[in-house]
Amino acid sequence: MSRVALPDFPWDSLAEAKAKAQAHPGGLVDLSIGTPVDPVPESIRAALASVSEIPGYPTTHGIPELRAAAIDALSRRHGIEGVPEAAVLPTIGSKELVASLPRQLGFGPGDLIVIPEVAYPTYEVGVLLAGASLLRADSTFAVGPQRPSMLWINSPSNPTGRVLGVDHLRKVVEWARERDVVVVSDECYLALGWESEPVSILHPSVHGGSLDGLLAVHSLSKSANLASYRAGFVTGDPKLVAGLLEIRKHSGLIVPRPVQEAMVAALKDDEALAAQRERYARRRLVLRKALLDSGFEISHSEAGLYLWSTRGEAALDTVDWLADRGILAAPGTFYGPTGGRHVRIALTATDERIDAAVERLASI
Ligand SMILES: Cc1ncc(COP(=O)(O)O)c(C=O)c1O
Repeated sequence: MSRVALPDFPWDSLAEAKAKAQAHPGGLVDLSIGTPVDPVPESIRAALASVSEIPGYPTTHGIPELRAAAIDALSRRHGIEGVPEAAVLPTIGSKELVASLPRQLGFGPGDLIVIPEVAYPTYEVGVLLAGASLLRADSTFAVGPQRPSMLWINSPSNPTGRVLGVDHLRKVVEWARERDVVVVSDECYLALGWESEPVSILHPSVHGGSLDGLLAVHSLSKSANLASYRAGFVTGDPKLVAGLLEIRKHSGLIVPRPVQEAMVAALKDDEALAAQRERYARRRLVLRKALLDSGFEISHSEAGLYLWSTRGEAALDTVDWLADRGILAAPGTFYGPTGGRHVRIALTATDERIDAAVERLASI
């Protein structure tokens, strides 16, 4: 057993609802996890295979082509400028980084780390593993006079799909700089804006020309269907990235060489990204309408891969209501105490399964 008291793994508690949903004659529609279901694009699979004969250890910092492709993609897709290539560091997906970042940045007992009110559960895990203290807050106002060492933001948010505007981000950065707080922005849904255009913390309109104290965490899991390859990177303040590189070199936290090659292809393939966006846009449209028509309200959800939905009742009652229709959703309680009246409904199912859910919601 771990000596650090970690929360129960949230999805384990869904077993009963899952069994009920599975018993539906039309089969389970699992919308409880944000796992990609569409195949890895051909360009990426070919890149992976093209270097599979290389036997030697890969570099922790990644091949130069990978860092260059990341910088180009950030500029082309998100208008991010001024990040040096050396300040890109590949990660083995982003979850391992999220869970170890507070520790890898040198934070521990005595440090306070701020995470969003409702948030991806791994932020809390990272704080616990570091032995630091946790505060859930969505505004700098809510932090009050306390002096955190690090603050996570996540826009577009998992689970709410909320997007933080440029003014909000700029204020957070200014506030953090006055207090010497490291701001880490988890941007794994940045390419998936629907009703608003998400902005990176590394956009010049936010940071005003300095990367000091800022890190952005990126993942190719959602934008390129690469969850199975484990592919992400962190970038931003060159000094912070250099520190992480040193620790990760010593620890052997290295992205496998074929995955590095696949990442280069993914970061160059804007067509594959556009095609994937279209698939999700369609699924979102039909599912959103079916939920609204069947009495749900949808909060935020202007970007990302989830519909943050409520029937105005306790989340577990809604999970149960959906399970009766063979649909599995995640209760908002997985993401923080204030999520108790919402469920998170993912867009990550095949068109066929999404259509099945729509049909079931329509026949109530
Ligand atoms: C907000 C957020 N950050 C990070 C991750 C981790 O993604 P991965 O480890 O696949 O890069 C996820 C996965 O769902 C997520 O929702």
